[in-house]
Formats: sequence, structure tokens, C-alpha cells
Amino acid sequence: MPSCGATYALEEVLFACRACGALLDVRYDWSRCAVPEKLSFFDGRRITPGRSPQARADASGVWRFRELLPFADLEDLVTIGEGRTILQPADVLADQLGMAAGRLFLQYEGFNPSGSFKDNGMAAAFTVARCLDRRRVACASTGNTSASLAMFAAQTLTRSGTPMEAIVFVGGGKIAFGKLSQALDYGARTLQIAGDFDACMRLVQESADQLNLYLMNSVNPFRLEGQKTIIYRVLDGLGWEVPDWIVVPGGNLGNTSAFGKALIELHELGLIERLPRLAVINATGANTLYELFQLDGLRFNEGKVDSAAIRKRYACMDAEGRRASTIASAIEIGRPVNLVKALRSLEATDGVVRQVSDEAILDGKALVGRYGYGCEPASGASVAGLRVLLEEGVIGRSDRVVCVLTGHGLKDPAATVNYHSPASGQMTRPRYANPPVPVPNDLQEVAKLLNG
Ligand code: F0G
Repeated sequence: MPSCGATYALEEVLFACRACGALLDVRYDWSRCAVPEKLSFFDGRRITPGRSPQARADASGVWRFRELLPFADLEDLVTIGEGRTILQPADVLADQLGMAAGRLFLQYEGFNPSGSFKDNGMAAAFTVARCLDRRRVACASTGNTSASLAMFAAQTLTRSGTPMEAIVFVGGGKIAFGKLSQALDYGARTLQIAGDFDACMRLVQESADQLNLYLMNSVNPFRLEGQKTIIYRVLDGLGWEVPDWIVVPGGNLGNTSAFGKALIELHELGLIERLPRLAVINATGANTLYELFQLDGLRFNEGKVDSAAIRKRYACMDAEGRRASTIASAIEIGRPVNLVKALRSLEATDGVVRQVSDEAILDGKALVGRYGYGCEPASGASVAGLRVLLEEGVIGRSDRVVCVLTGHGLKDPAATVNYHSPASGQMTRPRYANPPVPVPNDLQEVAKLLNG
């Protein structure tokens, strides 16, 4: 209602008053509406937790499952609202991949506070850090772990009430700007090491030992406890039914390890009757697990893993001067620290490992984006891997499949923009490219384009 007092009906497509030109307001006839008598009416529809420790824990996607990771008291649980992610049905994407409707789901962990699945693990690891009254927390990272650690540290006080100090080790070149910007913004001391992720990982482990830093990488078993809850939420999304497959990108193999542990425990506790199969997807340029598991036939073997075979593979990589290299910088890792636990998961779930090219990863990522859920390149590996496994017939077209999308699309916008608007001179246009269209500042030209 502009000051001239004119009113218009809802059905009119009109934004400014025809009489005086002022922008319109929406006005209600409250006497005809069911207005609650008190604001406390909205209590029953809370999305923010109440203030009691129990209410805060119940509102966390990690701690609502606290009976399945029972290592800390309710009062000590650290939460910043992590894990409020839900399983999304993905019928249009399923159709694109030749799968039946109702069979494909995306577990979209990009919805976490720092934009990746890492927040699940950090809630658990920070809880332990608090219980131990540790102040300095550290990690090596391809970007997401550091973003998550920095965010949690900035929001958490030690048990003795002092602010925590985040120290993150990132590789020299490749960290995506979305992630680096987070660590800087949340106040982490960000050490850019002249080396790759594997070098950072070694250095942070040594530093943690010698400089009294509490290490928050997925070598810390409590990180994996938090990441187990991704599986609980997947099951929750399926009405507590078990899918046939869970497809996940593999980098340092923390998720692979945590998912297997969650499933093994649920099975042992009699809470599920069978285990889904895990499919772990490596990038071709960072395919240590693929080579060891699929090519060398390395197995968990009831815990008696052939460590000589692992050493041989690493020696071979060193001799060839082969370093991990992929556009999916999050999983650009040559020496996954959770290798043995991941083998345990693969054994328990009759799992498989596949490798996918950077091109396939970016196409997978673009498909996820096209159907409404942006993700970063590493997450696109899930969908690229699913495509390979469907083509091989390993995954059936009417199997029930969950692809885990590990990180938000805005983590690495450069990868997305470069895919959609390739540099001039690039030979082939990516399969799902949606380049911006240059148009003169002229209505006729716009009309020609849109109606043409
Ligand atoms: N997807 C994303 C978006 C990641 O950031 C990572 C790992 C992975 C997948 C691989 O998960 O290590 O459990 O196999 N990022 C780590 C980091 C290494 O430093 O942020 P994983």
C-alpha cells in the first residue's frame, strides 16, 4: 500500500502503484488470519535449539545419536549446529543416469555450517579437546578440514574458559579459495607449507608430538566417531532401511573408515540386518587405494594387512616421482592415513574401489549442479563413480543407491566457472557446459536470443 492509499489484488502482477509509482507493500487483513496469541506458540516449531545441554545435543545431527558414540558426558558435548543435513531424493539425476525413480539419493553434507562433512568429525574431536582442556588444535588439510577446524576453534572455549587457537598446515599451491578464505577469516594461524598434502600431514604429526598441539586430522579416532553419524542420517532418511550401495569419494579415507565402522557396529548391535556395499571412488591422479585394492589385491585379511605390499607401492610411486594430482584438490592425497581402517570397511561391506578421470569428476559435479545441488569437484567423484559402476553392471539400475556429496559447490567456484566457460582456445567443450552468453545492452537482441 503506497502512501496514496491505492490497493491491488494478489492476482495482479504489479510491483509499483499505477497511480503514484511507489513500490507496493504486502498488507494483511489480520482479522481474517489465525494470529497466535503469544510468540511462545512458535516454540513447538523450533529450528534453533533450546538452551539446555540436552536440547542443544538433540538439535545436532551428530549428538542426537550420542548413544552410538558414547564417549563424553552430555554437558561436555561441543556443537555448532553440525550435521543438520538430510537425504535428498534425486529422481531427475537418476533418470539422467538411466536409473529407476526412487532409487537414487544424495546425502548433501555441503549443508554443514562450514560447508563440508568435516563438521561431523570436528564436533566429536572438539568435544575431546575440551574434555582434555587442550587449547592449541591443529590439522593438515586440502582445505575443508582446516575450514571446519578454524570455525569450531573460533566458537569454542577450552574447559578453563580461554579461546582455542587453531593452527592449520596447508599445501603451497592447490587449496581452493573458498576454503582458504574460511581459515583466514575464522582466525586460524595458516601455515602454507612448501609441499603437498602428504608433506603437510607428516609435518603436522611431528609438530603435534613435539609442540603439544592437539591433532584433529582423521588419524584422531574421535573424528571418525563423529563421521559415523552421516550413516545414521542416511538410514534415517530411508526410514531406517538399509540401501544397497553407498558411494563416497576417497581421499584420506576417513569417511570410508567411519562409514564401515558405523555399519559394522550397527550390525553387531542387531540394529540393522544387513550391510550396504560401499563404493569408494578415487581420482585417477590420486588413486593409491584403487591401485592397492583393485590392482594389487591388498585386503584387510582380518587385520593382518600385507604392509610390505603397501611399502612396495609407495616405493614405486617415489621411484617414478609420482605425486597425487587432480582437479579435485580435496582428494589429492597419495598416502591415505586411514588405509588399513578403510580396508576393514571394504571387507565388511563387500566393497569396491574405482578411479575416475578429472573430466568425469567435473561432468559428475556439473550433473549434480544442474539438478539443483551444487557440490565441489571431489563430491562429483561419487556420481562419476556411480556412472562407471552402472555401466559395468556392478550396481544395478534399480538398486537403491546413496551418493555422498561431501562439500558445498561454493568451496571451489573457480573449478565451476572454468568448466562452464572454458578459456578460448580450449579444444573440447565440456559435456554439460552452460557458458554465459554475451549480449549487447539492447532489448531487441535479448528478444532475438530468448525467442530464437
Ligand atoms: N570430499 C571432500 C570435499 C573433502 O574435503 C575430502 C577430504 C574428501 C572428500 C575425502 O574424504 O579424507 O575422508 O577420504 N578432505 C581433507 C581435507 C583431506 O583436508 O579437507 P576422506
